[in-house]
Amino acid sequence: MHVLVCGGAGYIGSHTCVALAERGHRVVIADNFSNSAPPVLERLARLTGQAPDARRVDVRNAAALAALFAGHRFDAVIHFAALKAVGESCERPLDYFDNNISGTITLLQAMRAADVRRLVFSSSATVYGEPQSVPIDEDAPLSSTNPYGRTKLVMEQLIGDVCTADPGFQAISLRYFNPVGAHPSGLIGEAPNGVPNNLMPYICQVAAGKRERLQIYGGDWPTVDGTGVRDYIHVMDLAQAHVHALEKLDGVRGHLPLNLGAGRGISVLELLRAFETASGREIPYRIVDRRVGDVAEVYADPSRAERLLGWRTQLDVDAMCRDAWRWQSMNPDGYAET
Ligand code: NAD
Ligand code: WQD
Repeated sequence: MHVLVCGGAGYIGSHTCVALAERGHRVVIADNFSNSAPPVLERLARLTGQAPDARRVDVRNAAALAALFAGHRFDAVIHFAALKAVGESCERPLDYFDNNISGTITLLQAMRAADVRRLVFSSSATVYGEPQSVPIDEDAPLSSTNPYGRTKLVMEQLIGDVCTADPGFQAISLRYFNPVGAHPSGLIGEAPNGVPNNLMPYICQVAAGKRERLQIYGGDWPTVDGTGVRDYIHVMDLAQAHVHALEKLDGVRGHLPLNLGAGRGISVLELLRAFETASGREIPYRIVDRRVGDVAEVYADPSRAERLLGWRTQLDVDAMCRDAWRWQSMNPDGYAET
């Protein structure tokens, strides 16, 4: 298929572009590089044997999108382009509404004008808010606890409404749980700006000596060892799920939300120990107060995605830690030095 990948230079998008190329799909990347760096394109060329077709395009720019659709006959769009930091979204909610929601509206309008009616959308487990029970299936109540989460919820609803209005529109929203890890080559991975918000990149930077110690947010949660439990999923498994979703879109009626997780909860301390084994480094830590907005346990029931996509996770927590550490070791400053 000929696919437009919005936000394809980012962490999950770049891994997905490799998986798409390996399956013989033709990709055009549209990214404004607001949270990624052009050197990733050279890494993609090394991994796929071909320079990627990438354009500096902001999805809020209707004219730029129209020009892109006019020059290609896309079969589908994969939409990763969004701002994603929860804390930042509380400080700059309007920027998040504009970038994520306005960007999605402009993209949907451009798709309609070009008669492209297949979409794979990056959603998130954040649409479940504070889950009432685990594992979480797709019928669980939806809510939001912060502006970022609200944008994901609204974007899903917009896509659902477009599908209702136009029965020919086919969309899958992939609700990722906690993506971690990197390509096993060590050539592409997650390159956060500044202090990482998320656990795995923070652990990586402690292991590399860039940060003194991990702060564990709460040791008194009602969990296996008192620390928070999440459903970590290897980014390589996530990338494969996008290829499966793309190839199954044709059989979808309307809007289909699917959970992407391993279906297994792992605590902060369990992840930390697995990382120490994978890296051979000790990770100093201190248990501090709970982080505002956190919950004890979040993990997926991924059975619907398994059934409908014919996909399931293949890579365990040891592979997640090994690959995250390889990426960190080979690229101590992310893409900065390439
Ligand atoms: P990322 O920031 O690495 O990638 C997003 C990409 O989109 C970046 O390259 C950025 O430059 C680009 N972008 C942002 N706004 C844009 C715009 N207006 N126009 C064009 N490009 C734009 O993030 P990621 O971790 O790869 O996440 C990809 C998607 O998955 C996001 O939509 C995110 O909300 C969602 N998601 C991520 C996680 C996670 O933990 N990483 C979890 C659940 C959902
Ligand atoms: C995981 C666990 C923390 C950092 C976030 C977003 C969510 C989604 C994925 C996009 C928790 C603990 C963390 C640290 C810690 N993103 N932790 N010390 O919060 O599950 O999800 O990213 O859609 O929307 O909210 O991920 O990696 O931040 O935290 O103890 O320095 O690690 O308390 O238990 P989270 P996380």
